[in-house]
Amino acid sequence: MNILSLLLLATQSTSASIADLNLSYIHQGWGHAMRDRSVTDTPLAINGRSFEHGLGTHAISTFRIRLFGQSTRFHAFCGVDDNAKSERASIVFHVIGDGKELWKSPRLSWKQDAVEADVPLAGVKTVNLYVDDAGDGVDYDHADWADAKIEFTGKAPLSVVPPVERAVILTPPPSPKPRINSPSVVGVRPGHPFLYTVPVTGLRPMKVTAHGLPSGLNIDPLTGIVEGTAPKRGTYSVRFTAKNRKGSANRTIRIVSGDEIALTPQMGWNSWYIWLDKVDDKIMRSSADAMVRNGMIQHGYQYVDIDDCWARVPGSKDPVVGGPTRDNNGRMLPSAKFPEMKALTAYIHSKGLRAGIYTSPGKTTCAGYEGAFGHEPIDAETFADWGFDLLKYDWCSYQATAPGDAGYQKPYWLMGSLLKMQKRDIVLNLCQYGMDDVWKWGKQVGGHSWRTAGDLGTGATMYQDGFDLYATKHLERFAHPGAYNDPDYLIFGNLAGPGGKARRTLMTPNEQYSQVSFWSLVAAPLILGGDIITLDAFTLNLLTNDEVIAVDQDALVKAARRVVKSGETEAWARPLEDGGIAVGLFNRAEDEGPVTVTWKDLGIQGRFSVRDLWRQKELGRFKHSFTATVPRHGVVMIKLTRSH
Ligand code: GLA
Repeated sequence: MNILSLLLLATQSTSASIADLNLSYIHQGWGHAMRDRSVTDTPLAINGRSFEHGLGTHAISTFRIRLFGQSTRFHAFCGVDDNAKSERASIVFHVIGDGKELWKSPRLSWKQDAVEADVPLAGVKTVNLYVDDAGDGVDYDHADWADAKIEFTGKAPLSVVPPVERAVILTPPPSPKPRINSPSVVGVRPGHPFLYTVPVTGLRPMKVTAHGLPSGLNIDPLTGIVEGTAPKRGTYSVRFTAKNRKGSANRTIRIVSGDEIALTPQMGWNSWYIWLDKVDDKIMRSSADAMVRNGMIQHGYQYVDIDDCWARVPGSKDPVVGGPTRDNNGRMLPSAKFPEMKALTAYIHSKGLRAGIYTSPGKTTCAGYEGAFGHEPIDAETFADWGFDLLKYDWCSYQATAPGDAGYQKPYWLMGSLLKMQKRDIVLNLCQYGMDDVWKWGKQVGGHSWRTAGDLGTGATMYQDGFDLYATKHLERFAHPGAYNDPDYLIFGNLAGPGGKARRTLMTPNEQYSQVSFWSLVAAPLILGGDIITLDAFTLNLLTNDEVIAVDQDALVKAARRVVKSGETEAWARPLEDGGIAVGLFNRAEDEGPVTVTWKDLGIQGRFSVRDLWRQKELGRFKHSFTATVPRHGVVMIKLTRSH
């Protein structure tokens, strides 16, 4: 063969239909990926135009294809399949190459023409064909990548086969000796009810005592529950001691009685991703029991939160959720699934835990239940009267209910002000998916945390987009004591799968370690979205590493910023109250690889000891930089402490 024909051979391109690849590794929100058919097994068709070939999938869908840097082009027609048959279908297609967005469709609805994707792929190693739900949930989101082809010159594209990862428990069990795991500060408003369980690990029985507790507060030494009425304005340094037959531990905690609450991000569990509309009183009680039984309470988890679907559905004839949505005084009525809200919160409080509730500023919530619109004052009062400690305030139906009202801030400002007027502390979690740069005003309107993007969903895998969102918008600037960016819940353990049937998280173990690490570095609320009642040993371990939690709960609340970005690897760092620096070395790529952070990246000089926080192990002393080999989609999380 002469040189010319070799060259010709090398540049000749062949094309592969993506539907002919192995489709079994596609993750999608509903159903199965289909070759040359729609997700509901009908011929592919987008607004009357038929396609013989292509891939039928359903948002949210992720299809990773390995290209080896030898593909030249991706071509497809994208749209909602005609068989979706619903105005509620709306999707956005993305072509992501090595973590960078190469192409994005506009928001596409049912009966809209296909849009053409024609994307150069030169040099790209892995492409992700990603379909999101356009921020309004995945209902009817039948997505077609019609006639989708990849042109390549050498090695043919291959579906990324996620490596089978063993769920390795990295963190040693807590010592039998007492350890007080509380953040160094707890906030409360003067004169309000105070309830705080001092989290302590170690062998039971344990005796927890307090020195310097302000009058009005009492501690139960057997449970470590501190209760009473918050003292007058001021900072009270309380020395807590925990003692068992293995030893004792001390920790000073500042109880700050003032205007600010939630001085560290809230930690807890929320019902949505596992129970959806099935949530009821019994599930909430069992979940509170589980938080105590499995020991999460001793690592700082406190909030047990009901999400949507506890109220009644306007106009419904269903005996469980039907009937008047409010009483004669305009007070919201829970459905038959929640016979007595006051009794439920009293039960949760009796365990030393706090209770959360949910509603929406629109007429109805996202799932179609009664919302707060027009009844905000009485709703705020009712939630306080029922004994709730947190409100998640969604966005659904607000725009439709209040047309012409341009203000994104208005409903939150209203609810924020009303909650502040109640005689108990109620943490306010804004859930409007990051619209109008909510991080810039979330705190001013009375929010303590705000969702920064749409739902991760129960089918979530590696948390990818958030890295760039947090880095490019510099969201670290907006995290303060009492004000946190919220990337959504921890998608672990058993979650509601397609059709509401529980299934395991689709995140690999390394992806889960990355999620907790990222959340802790950016000072996000740590709220488990999976079932707390059936928590397995791996997931429990993942949620209860006290050194990682201490980063999340660090009282300085200097959230991490991205200090290194090199291809698909990156480092995030945050300074800590004790002078240390927490660093996460992340690898978003498909292969294991080294990730380095230099002291220059961190703005430091000199010798530092490095501790592996997940393994709780000293790694040695380093002078200029630190490099770790980080697994696919994994993390190595370290803490640097100056060493002399
Ligand atoms: C929205 C929120 C979710 C959940 C549902 C409930 O989608 O973002 O977290 O509360 O509503 O319907």
